[in-house]
Amino acid sequence: MTSADDPADAAVAAAERCTPEFRRNPYPVYGRLRRTAPVCPLNPPHGITTYLITRYEDARAALADPRLSKDMYGALESYRRIFGDSSVALDDHMLNADPPKHTRLRRLVNSGFTPHRVESLRPRVRQIVTGLLDDCPIGEPVDLLAAFAFPLPIIVICELLGVPPEDRPKVQSWSTTVAQTGFSPESKRAQQLAEEALHAYFAELVEQKRRRPSDDLLSVLIGARDENGRLTEHELISSAFLLMFAGHKTTAYLIGNAVLHLLRHPGQLRAVREDPALIAPAVEEVLRYDGSVETGTFRYATEDVGIGGTVIPRGALVQIALSSANRDPAKFDAPDTFDLARPANNQSAHLGFGHGIHYCLGAPLARLETQLALTGLFDRFPRVALADPAREPEWLVVPFPAFRGLVELPVVLEP
Ligand code: HEM
Repeated sequence: MTSADDPADAAVAAAERCTPEFRRNPYPVYGRLRRTAPVCPLNPPHGITTYLITRYEDARAALADPRLSKDMYGALESYRRIFGDSSVALDDHMLNADPPKHTRLRRLVNSGFTPHRVESLRPRVRQIVTGLLDDCPIGEPVDLLAAFAFPLPIIVICELLGVPPEDRPKVQSWSTTVAQTGFSPESKRAQQLAEEALHAYFAELVEQKRRRPSDDLLSVLIGARDENGRLTEHELISSAFLLMFAGHKTTAYLIGNAVLHLLRHPGQLRAVREDPALIAPAVEEVLRYDGSVETGTFRYATEDVGIGGTVIPRGALVQIALSSANRDPAKFDAPDTFDLARPANNQSAHLGFGHGIHYCLGAPLARLETQLALTGLFDRFPRVALADPAREPEWLVVPFPAFRGLVELPVVLEP
C-alpha cells in the first residue's frame, strides 16, 4: 500500500484545505501531503471522485499525460449533469480540448498572439500602468488590488480583443460571475445568466467587427473563421471569453502576491531597484514561490492511470497542485525561501504557467504586464509600504483553492 492510500491523512488534508489557516499558508499542508499522500483522494462538494497531485515530478508528468483529458464532457457524461450544460456555453475553447481540436484552436488563437504583437503592447501597457498609478491617492491607505492589479489586465485584454472602453465594466462583471466557483442552484443560475449575457455581447461585437474590421485580436479570429472556416462561431466566442477569463484574475493576483513578497523582503526589493535586469527573475521567483494558480488545473482520467505509485481510476477528476509542486524540495533548493538569485535554470523550472501542450498561451503577456506593473509602482513610489505591516493580509477563500491571491492589499504610496 502506498501512503497515498492512507484515508486518515487524505481526509485530514481535505478538511484542512477549507480552513482560514490553510488559506493563509497552505504550504505546510502541501509539504505533508508530498511526504505522506502525494496522490491524494479528496471528497469535493460536487461528489466526483477527485485526486490531488502535489509532487513536482508527478505534477509535471500529469500535466503532459494524454490519458488525462481536458475535455470534460467528452471524458465523462456525468460531468454534464453536475456542472450543467447550456446552449450558449462559453467553454468551447482550447483549455477544454484535447488534440486534434486543441491543436487547431491553439494555433488559430496563437496566430493573433505572436511575440511581436505582445511586445508591441509594451508602450501601451506602460501607459496604462502610469494612468492607474496617477489615480491612486498618496499618503493614505489604498487597496492596490482594486486600484491597480485588477484593472490593469482587464484593460489590456479588452484593448487587445477590441472591446470598447465603455463596455468594459459590464463585460468584467459578467466575466467575474461566470468564473466564480459555486455548486449551489443559485450560483449556477447566476453563472448561466452571465454566460448568456456575455455570449450575446460577444456575438454582437463580432457582427460589428465583421462590418468594420480593425487590427484587434477579435478581428484576427473573425478572419480565421470567415476566410478559412477553421473556427466555428461558438469556438470564436468561447476563445474570446477564454482570453478574458484566463488572463484576468491570474495576472491580478500575481501582481498582488509579487508586491506583498517584495515588500516583505526589503533586501531583495532593494536589489531589484538597483538592477532593473532583476525584475524578470523576480517575477519568475514569485511564480514559483507563491504563484496565482494554486490547483486550478483540471484533468479527467480517460482510463486507469498510475501516477506516483497510485492508480487514479477512470472517470476521476485530477487536480494538479502547482503551488505545491513549486515548493517541492526534491526539485528546488530551499524551496520555502524567496530568493531572486536562485540559479536561473532551477527558478525557471517552476510550473506556474503549467506544462505541456496547455502551457499558458498568455505567459509572455502576463510576464510583460507583471514586470511593468512592478517597475512602474516601485519607480514611482520608492517608499511604498504595507499599510499595516503587522497584520496578516486576508487570502482568498473559495470552495476549493483554484487561485492563490489576496482579498485586498492595503498599502500607503509615498513618492
Ligand atoms: C493556460 C497560468 C495569464 C491565456 C494556463 C495554464 C496555467 C496558466 C497554469 C495551464 C492550465 C492547465 O494546464 O490546465 C497563468 C498565470 C497567468 C496567466 C499564472 C498570470 C500570471 C494569462 C494571460 C492570458 C492567458 C494574460 C491571455 C490573455 C491562457 C490560455 C491558456 C492558459 C489561452 C490555455 C492554453 C491551452 O489550453 O493550450 N495559464 N496564465 N493566461 N492561459 Fe494562462
